[in-house]
Amino acid sequence: MQTLSLSFHNHTLVITINRPDKLNALNKKVIEELSSVMDDVYNNTEIKSVIITGSGPRAFVAGADISEFAALDANGGKAMAEKGQMQVFNKIEHCVKPVIAAVNGFALGGGCELAMACHFRIAGNNAQFGQPEVNLGLIPGYGGTQRLTLLIGKGRAMELLMTGSMIDAPTALQYGLVNYVVPPEELMNKALSVAELINTKAPLAIAGCIKAANAVFDESKNGYETEINIFGELFDTADAKEGAAAFLEKRQPVFKGF
Ligand code: COA
Repeated sequence: MQTLSLSFHNHTLVITINRPDKLNALNKKVIEELSSVMDDVYNNTEIKSVIITGSGPRAFVAGADISEFAALDANGGKAMAEKGQMQVFNKIEHCVKPVIAAVNGFALGGGCELAMACHFRIAGNNAQFGQPEVNLGLIPGYGGTQRLTLLIGKGRAMELLMTGSMIDAPTALQYGLVNYVVPPEELMNKALSVAELINTKAPLAIAGCIKAANAVFDESKNGYETEINIFGELFDTADAKEGAAAFLEKRQPVFKGF
């Protein structure tokens, strides 16, 4: 990996976007490598959860790499947005293992979009969020108009999209964009402790939570029906039998992932 560093903490994979001199801007290589790592996350049974963060003290990700914009025309721009959405942002959102953003500074443009594609976000109190694309004569292309509106509501999203203004971490907390704000030095420990708690649960139940909650935002699906189906299917798993048995025997369950 040229642009990402990867580290394992028990069963949690920490993906660090590693271009600190460019505030971790998402160039083609980062998108390509994130896509490939997400494929590994899907396939590697040792990985139970993922944390995405940025390298250095200043930025999570300060957006798509603007230096690559000069070469783009309408077709190129569309292809870039489509490829990014399909190969990275949608893969993260629909990953059946939890993906948590640990936002350690600027999360702007594609950075805010990357954080929003994750299942939830934890921020350092130095984090700043925004969709400044209008300053470049553009709009977000990696799902920002959709996910920001879903996460913080239309009025607040419209204002952020149209002004290009940033919001600080306490405001992001108040808007429901992040779940916690912690001192920067505690950010990774907080993210790891939440991930490790989730790692103790039954993996197929976690996958079910993600699929059912995502169905709320999928017009092709009836979310209640999705929930009924997944709820039913889980009764056929060994882990659901183990969960109930452990409760009745007053012991901790040992989940196996099937
Ligand atoms: N694309 C490419 N390079 C970027 C970048 C981006 N999105 N964001 C920051 N950088 C680079 C800068 O060009 C600079 O590189 P250099 O040292 O080689 O000149 C380096 O990262 C540091 O950024 P700088 O602008 O000098 O830091 P700052 O503290 O003055 O400002 C920001 C920080 C985040 C406010 C500012 O970098 C910024 O506005 N970035 C662009 C945000 C944006 O519009 N994102 C959406 C893109 S669609």
